Amino acid sequence: MSLPVEPQGPGARAGAPAGTNASEELAGHGHLKTHFDEPSLDFDGPVSLIDDGVLDELRMIAGRYPQARSALLPMLHLVQSVEGRVTPAGIEACAAILGISTADVSGVATFYTMYKRRPVGKYHVGVCTTALCAIMGGDEVYARLQEHLGVGNDETTDDGQVTLEHLECNAACDYAPVMMVNWEFFDGTTPERAVEVVDSLRAGTPVQATRGARVVTWKETERILAGFPDGRADEGPTSGPASRLGLQIAKERGWHAPSAPPPEQPDDESTTETP
Ligand code: FES
Repeated sequence: MSLPVEPQGPGARAGAPAGTNASEELAGHGHLKTHFDEPSLDFDGPVSLIDDGVLDELRMIAGRYPQARSALLPMLHLVQSVEGRVTPAGIEACAAILGISTADVSGVATFYTMYKRRPVGKYHVGVCTTALCAIMGGDEVYARLQEHLGVGNDETTDDGQVTLEHLECNAACDYAPVMMVNWEFFDGTTPERAVEVVDSLRAGTPVQATRGARVVTWKETERILAGFPDGRADEGPTSGPASRLGLQIAKERGWHAPSAPPPEQPDDESTTETP
């Protein structure tokens, strides 16, 4: 594939004056820093692993949707399962199959935080530091992991095993503070428990999520998210007492959901029978 990927280099941006890049142009404005402003991002990368078999699977995903464009999100997950991140080759492949521009694909890949432009380690460890988790200990969990692993936000350990990232609310506030490993929940985490988990992962010891399946690698997880299940969706508990507390209280008090109203009848004379 030879289509150029937009932007074509770190900081490149349509409309920027010649000899400048987005970072320089925005300097002094104090806002709007994007992935493309980061000099550490490698847009060339190693040789792509997207071969004919992967292209067939990308086409298969596109064929699952009435509007093929709707397949972009799972297709990007498949790219990550192969390449370890969203690469220029992956962007070009998705664009070519869906008949959209590489800028359209890039726009989606840089909007959602589950899509990564840097290679992710074997295990992506996210710590929720949004308000509730932060007050319940998430900040301490994150700080302890940062110190233990010797990495900053969105950085990977030298052995390529663990990428650490601040996460926004995981919609699991009833189990705050929450840590996720490859999107599996580790509820009510403590700094000590978080260190135990990452040490086990690095040692190759199987680790079970508190709600969910045994943790697999990030690339394996990405393949599942692309729509290729590994048959273990029901492994492990899928909910916990805190999430079911409302149901328990309702049962104890005899509360029921109101009955659904009868469906509305069409107000159309053409459907009325003539006596
Ligand atoms: S604030 Fe952490 S899961 Fe909601």
